[in-house]
Amino acid sequence: MPESLTARFPMSPYPVGWFRVAASNALRPGTHQNLRIFGQELVLFRTTSGVPRLIEAYCPHLGTHLGKGGCVEGENMVCPLHAWRIGGDGSVVHVPYSKATPRIAVRSWLLREVSGQIFVWHHPDDVAPEWEPPVLFEATDSNWTGFLPARTWTLRTHVQEFCENGADNVHSTWLHGQQSVTKSVEVDKHVYTHRTAQRFTFFGLVKALAKEAEGTLDISCHGLGIVVERGQVTMKLTMEYCLVFFPVPVDDTCIELHSVLSIRRLPTELATRLLWKKSAAEMSAIIDQDVPVWESKKWKERPVLVAEDGPIHAYRSWARQFYPKTQATLRPGQTG
Ligand code: FES
Ligand SMILES: [Fe+2]
Repeated sequence: MPESLTARFPMSPYPVGWFRVAASNALRPGTHQNLRIFGQELVLFRTTSGVPRLIEAYCPHLGTHLGKGGCVEGENMVCPLHAWRIGGDGSVVHVPYSKATPRIAVRSWLLREVSGQIFVWHHPDDVAPEWEPPVLFEATDSNWTGFLPARTWTLRTHVQEFCENGADNVHSTWLHGQQSVTKSVEVDKHVYTHRTAQRFTFFGLVKALAKEAEGTLDISCHGLGIVVERGQVTMKLTMEYCLVFFPVPVDDTCIELHSVLSIRRLPTELATRLLWKKSAAEMSAIIDQDVPVWESKKWKERPVLVAEDGPIHAYRSWARQFYPKTQATLRPGQTG
């Protein structure tokens, strides 16, 4: 039995922040999806008028799972057991066989729909958001492909550990065979940006054009749920890409890691498609190299670093803001 995340890490598995629940185009009006996030069963649905909603899965009447046999009707979910209508705010809005409408509700969650993605706000003390998910121009600019889904992993690690991968750029040389040098680190409230210079010795598709390629990679963490990686590789031509990772806390055993990729279009559609596929495959292979490390790594509270290591201390200091005091006082085994 693998160790729980609360046994492995001193911080709560559920930090404050925006976490992605679905791609916008994967949730059509009148449909729903069942999700497990923050250790809870939830139902995500899009009303007939097009508004995304996220509510606790269990009907406030007798606890039926609304997403298992239930459906969307107008602005509400219909429970499969007695057809009570549950609104997007989680409250009972209609009982089809009674004049009464009990004033009871399940929890609803705040959503935002930005850059072709749907995000949920999480704060353990229900504090309203002080910042918003980023608007990414690569989602809509016609010179770019827009964000297409790349790959999803289920990982036995913590969302903060995944995001630390971007601060620890020295591991790129040794684990991924790709040299990375820090150019700057910028911290602006909830956004941590690490700008790097890259040298790719063997970069898949590029190999045919050049033995070595140089480039830049800027990694911005918007909280611990949205990691935007903007890269440029220069050889005979310049390739530009925007890769976004969405680590999502599932429960005390694992996270889900979703990825989407948008690249700047090449002169032909075929070349663009081939490059997108190749880039997604390269990214996927790199993450696969990280997976066994993440899943077996032991958390070091005060790691001893050398001067040449990446800006890991700066990253960890920045990340502390996503654990409010109420979470900091929890003991291992408690999740709040
Ligand atoms: S359990 Fe949902 S309507 Fe009765
Ligand atoms: Fe890595």
